[in-house]
Amino acid sequence: MITPGLATSLIGMAQNTVEKTPVTLLGLGAMGTAMARTWLAAGHPLTVWNRTPARATALAAGGATVADTASEAVAANTLVVVCLLDDTSVDKVLAGTDLANKDLVNLTTSTPAQARARAEWARERGARYLDGGIMAVPPMIGVPEAGGYVFYSGSPELFERHQRTLGVPVGTTYVGEDAGFAALHDVALLSAMYGMFAGSAHAFALIRKEGIDPAALAPLLADWLVAMAPAVHRTADQLRSGDYTKSVVSNLAMQVAGTPTFLSTAEQQGVSPELLSPYFELMRRRLAEGSGEEDLTGVIDLLVR
Ligand SMILES: NC(=O)c1ccc[n+]([C@@H]2O[C@H](COP(=O)([O-])OP(=O)(O)OC[C@H]3O[C@@H](n4cnc5c(N)ncnc54)[C@H](OP(=O)(O)O)[C@@H]3O)[C@@H](O)[C@H]2O)c1
Repeated sequence: MITPGLATSLIGMAQNTVEKTPVTLLGLGAMGTAMARTWLAAGHPLTVWNRTPARATALAAGGATVADTASEAVAANTLVVVCLLDDTSVDKVLAGTDLANKDLVNLTTSTPAQARARAEWARERGARYLDGGIMAVPPMIGVPEAGGYVFYSGSPELFERHQRTLGVPVGTTYVGEDAGFAALHDVALLSAMYGMFAGSAHAFALIRKEGIDPAALAPLLADWLVAMAPAVHRTADQLRSGDYTKSVVSNLAMQVAGTPTFLSTAEQQGVSPELLSPYFELMRRRLAEGSGEEDLTGVIDLLVR
C-alpha cells in the first residue's frame, strides 16, 4: 500500500522527471563523471556509456541508465553530450552510431579546426551541433560559486534549446555560430594562463636561493597579477581603435630600457632568462620599428604571421 505522503513524493518525482530534458553522456572520465552527478542530482534522466564500464557503476547506483554500447546510448535520447579525451576518441566512439536528428554537444577539448570539421561531420550525419570548451576543473562542476563555465559555439538554436540543461553542471557562455570559436576562446584563455604561470615560475626562481619564504611571496604575486590583469582592457581598446599610443601608461621605450635590469638580476640570481627573453626580444623589435610611444600592444602584430 502506498501512503499519502509517499504518493505525493512519487508524483513530485514524476513531475520533476517529466520536466527535465533527458541526457545521454558518452565519456565518464573525471570531467564526465562530475557532470553526470549534477544532472542526476538535478533530476535529469541520464543514460551513460563509457569504454571502461566499471566507471559507470556508482552512477548506476545513483539512478543513471548504463548503455552497453555507444550506439545504444546515442539512440536513447535526443540530447547527446560527449566528453572524451580527444578528437580521436570522439571519432572512435561515435563511429557507427546513428546521429540523425540528434542534438550533439561535444565538450571534448579540440582545436578550432577539429571543432569546425566535427560540426561538418555531424551535419553530414543529420545532427545539429554545438562545440564546447570547458573553463573549469572537475571540483568546480556543480559548484556555481566556483565561477567555472563552458564556452559554446555552433548552432544558436541548439544552444537556446538546451542552455538550461547544459547550465546544470557549470555556467554557459555562447561565443558564436562558428563552431571553432569555443575551442579558440578556450585556448586563448588557457594560453594567457600559461603566460601567467611562466612569469610566476621566473619570479619564484629568482628568490629560490634566498632566505625568502615562497609562501610570503605568493600573496604578493597573486595580488600583483590581479592588479595588472585589467590592462587587457586597454590593450583591447587600442586594438579596436588601431591607435596603440592611446592611454599609454608605461611607454615601450621606457620598458625596453628596463629590460637589462631584469636580465642582470636573473643572471645574478643564477636564473635562466629563457622564459622572459623571447618577450623582451619582441619588445625590442617593436621599439626598433619606431614605436617607443606605444606600450606593449604592438607585440601582438609581430606575433601574427
Ligand atoms: N579534467 C580537467 O581538469 C579538464 C578541464 C577542462 C577540460 N577538460 C577536457 O574534458 C575532456 C575529458 O577530460 P577528463 O578529465 O574527463 O579526462 P579523463 O579522466 O582522462 O577521461 C577520458 C575519457 O575519455 C575516454 N577515452 C579515452 N580514449 C578513448 C578511446 N580511444 N575510446 C573511447 N573512450 C576513450 C576514457 O574512457 P576510459 O574510462 O575507458 O579510459 C574516459 O571516459 C578532455 O577533452 C579534457 O581536455 C578536462
